[in-house]
Amino acid sequence: MTAPQAKPARLATGRVEARRSGPLSGAASAPGDKSISHRALILGALSGGETRTTGLLEADDVLRTAAAMRALGAEAERDGTGGGPGGGSVWRVTGAPWRSPERALYLGNSGTGVRLIMGAVAGAGVAATFDGDVSLRARPMGRVLEPLRMMGLETSDENGRLPVTIEANGGLKAVDVKLAAPSAQVKSAILLAALGAEGVTRIHEPELCRDHTERMLSAFGVDLATQPDGEGGRFIEIAGGQALVSCDIVVPGDPSSAAFPVAAALIVPNSDVTIKGVLVNPLRAGFYETLREMGADISFENTRVENGEPVADIRARHSVLRGVEVPADRAPSMIDEYPILAVVAAHAHGETMMTGLEELRVKESDRIACVEAGLAANGGDAASGPDWLRVRGQGQPLKGGAMVKTHHDHRIAMSFLVAGLASEKPVEIDDASMIATSFPDFFDLMTSIGAEMGAA
Ligand code: S3P
Repeated sequence: MTAPQAKPARLATGRVEARRSGPLSGAASAPGDKSISHRALILGALSGGETRTTGLLEADDVLRTAAAMRALGAEAERDGTGGGPGGGSVWRVTGAPWRSPERALYLGNSGTGVRLIMGAVAGAGVAATFDGDVSLRARPMGRVLEPLRMMGLETSDENGRLPVTIEANGGLKAVDVKLAAPSAQVKSAILLAALGAEGVTRIHEPELCRDHTERMLSAFGVDLATQPDGEGGRFIEIAGGQALVSCDIVVPGDPSSAAFPVAAALIVPNSDVTIKGVLVNPLRAGFYETLREMGADISFENTRVENGEPVADIRARHSVLRGVEVPADRAPSMIDEYPILAVVAAHAHGETMMTGLEELRVKESDRIACVEAGLAANGGDAASGPDWLRVRGQGQPLKGGAMVKTHHDHRIAMSFLVAGLASEKPVEIDDASMIATSFPDFFDLMTSIGAEMGAA
């Protein structure tokens, strides 16, 4: 089998700085959605036939999931002949009965990859050891392992951290679980394990979070029932023993990646930028709702439904912004966008208060601490508590001039590079290499709209 021919990314690595830039302008296509890309590979590998995915995000995190699918017995390759909309690539996955891989599955920096594949491995009944980079090794895995153990899975781990070994099982039992936190990764892991369990698994999701696994399982022919719980949440029921039927997937643009050029357009004077083909599923669009409340001049244009998901071209123009209170119950729909929102908030007039953020402490880094430190070093005014972050906006660009520690976190890296596009002095980040985990074309896209970024 040949190695995947991912297109070479033009990447900046090591120390990089962003400098005050002229008006940003133009249009660019959003990169493929990371969450949907992982799921297309995993569900394709679990299904009986061939799944063709158009616009798959060829970022490090997703390519690690592809490699894991190959180690588990499926074929997952870039289709050299295909070309998706906006130049996105086409991948073919051919499912096969899963086997226990010889070596540990290494998922790099990817929490989504490792947690979803743990659930799928459990459901498939095979054994596997999972490992990741220094950031992933520090993240909690107990949230996934506990429900899987309730289903009868045997595991060994390092106090709920990687490396984790899942033993082969002769059959799991369905469970009735309530999600302790609004985590789509945990929900998805349980759903994928439930495919191999005896009986009907019932998940209570008190706060709604992204539903891509549910939508895609349905597209693969799995029968799954959802029902409101009457208090804003819902119940999901899925019977074990269902076979997945392969289908074709088109990946929409990632709203979490589009957030960076959109934010840059809002804070750099006279900018006018359009990011095309962005997923605007309400369970992912909390950032854009918040920007509107801040007075941002953004519009969803050419809104359409593509493959069952709402998609739009997002136009953003430089705006005079005001601070707002971001309600805690909006967190699941913008969980990855708080670092860039904090940068935008630093440019607004007045205070932005963000609550319900406890999950930000256990992302690729402690994002509350990283944002607070990065803003403080560059002349911003931020304060935090265990689950909140407050930014006092000064209605003007940051002073800049300091280096930000990214702690292996792609979103911290991109957020502060965006800050540097408006700041008086350049903003530097200590390491740009992790940007490739989610947005390998970040530098190409940003420079194409006029951003000045380069080696520090
Ligand atoms: C994701 C879910 C979220 C999000 C992550 C992607 C997914 O994590 O932060 O970037 O694809 O399911 P949690 O499920 O831990 O909230």
